[in-house]
Amino acid sequence: MPIRKLADMECNGKTVVIREDLNVPMKEGRITNDKRIRAALPTIRMALDKGAGVVLLSHLGRPTEGQYEERFSLRPVAARLGELLGREVPLANAPEDAGQVQPGQCVLLENVRFLSGEKKNDPALAARLAGLGDIYVMDAFGAAHRAHASTEGAVRLAKTACAGPLMVGELAAFAKVLDNPARPLAAVIGGSKVSTKLGLLDNLLARVDSLIVGGGIANTFLAAAGYNVGASLCEPDLIPEARKIMETARAQGKQLPLPVDVVTAGELAPGQKATVHAADDVPADEMILDIGPRTVALYEKLLAGAATVVWNGPVGAFETEPFGAGTRALAEALAASEAFVVVGGGDSVAAVEGYGLADRMGYISTGGGASLELLEGKVLPSVAALNDRG
Ligand code: 3PG
Repeated sequence: MPIRKLADMECNGKTVVIREDLNVPMKEGRITNDKRIRAALPTIRMALDKGAGVVLLSHLGRPTEGQYEERFSLRPVAARLGELLGREVPLANAPEDAGQVQPGQCVLLENVRFLSGEKKNDPALAARLAGLGDIYVMDAFGAAHRAHASTEGAVRLAKTACAGPLMVGELAAFAKVLDNPARPLAAVIGGSKVSTKLGLLDNLLARVDSLIVGGGIANTFLAAAGYNVGASLCEPDLIPEARKIMETARAQGKQLPLPVDVVTAGELAPGQKATVHAADDVPADEMILDIGPRTVALYEKLLAGAATVVWNGPVGAFETEPFGAGTRALAEALAASEAFVVVGGGDSVAAVEGYGLADRMGYISTGGGASLELLEGKVLPSVAALNDRG
């Protein structure tokens, strides 16, 4: 059943409760990246423009349930929202303080994870949250993989439930990759460990035409192919799994290229002497920390022929110079390509944003764990609830 959308709802004079994911990074009480707040603005504005009073819900961090803790307070988020919306956004301490909004007003409820029962998806709490308004809008894509009271239970118990435009946009972008992609479809899966991305590698391999592995994941694949990876991060236990994935790719005629050259150093620390080696010539006491220039050229060529690309995880230790060249080169190649490129996962998104290339990608997801689970082929609990509400 197609999901109902806020865009199609009659909201005039109603109270609309919107669950957003305003879980932004903070340092010493200050927001260090407000991307998730900005991503929620079109949804909030849509509800206000339709004549609704808005109650916003979100979590922040992982506080102990039932306990208030200043460092997990949404107060800085309320202030930032107020600046961006150009109107005051009061912070309500308890659900009951949030429910009296007038049309055109917007209130943010304090961290839903301060409320007992949120993580257990307690039906009483879910009903309390759903009962704060006439329409419950699930727009927190970043938390859609959590079956919590505010992300799943309330969607099921609300009088009327629907998805906000951010959620709709995220699901549409991933559907363009997973359901009916323009081909060839390529995936770039980086990051440190095969063990955390096994489900994703399996699911994507069944769908893509080519799969590029990077970072520590590629080291395990190199070891599985019989290369000596020296002192590199590698998961020997996962070598049989990596071999299986390579064999499946071969049997299905899919490309799964491995690095032909790599950048190595004695340790992962800024300013280390980096050396380029052929993949079969890694010194025993050095670790692979990036892909080399020949590999970059190989991957660029492969990606240049793709019509759709999904990217999750960097291909090197990009945060520590001089090991960011491979990730930057791939980001630049994808930014310049004609392909529809979806970037998901905290590190690859941070890389793309850090290089100032976010505007040139097809879609940048606001979800970390949620995008990972979608790419693993899982149905997200919030999405299942929205589907059931139809
Ligand atoms: C995230 O940052 O991935 C989401 O906000 C979910 O947060 P959680 O992992 O604490 O549930």
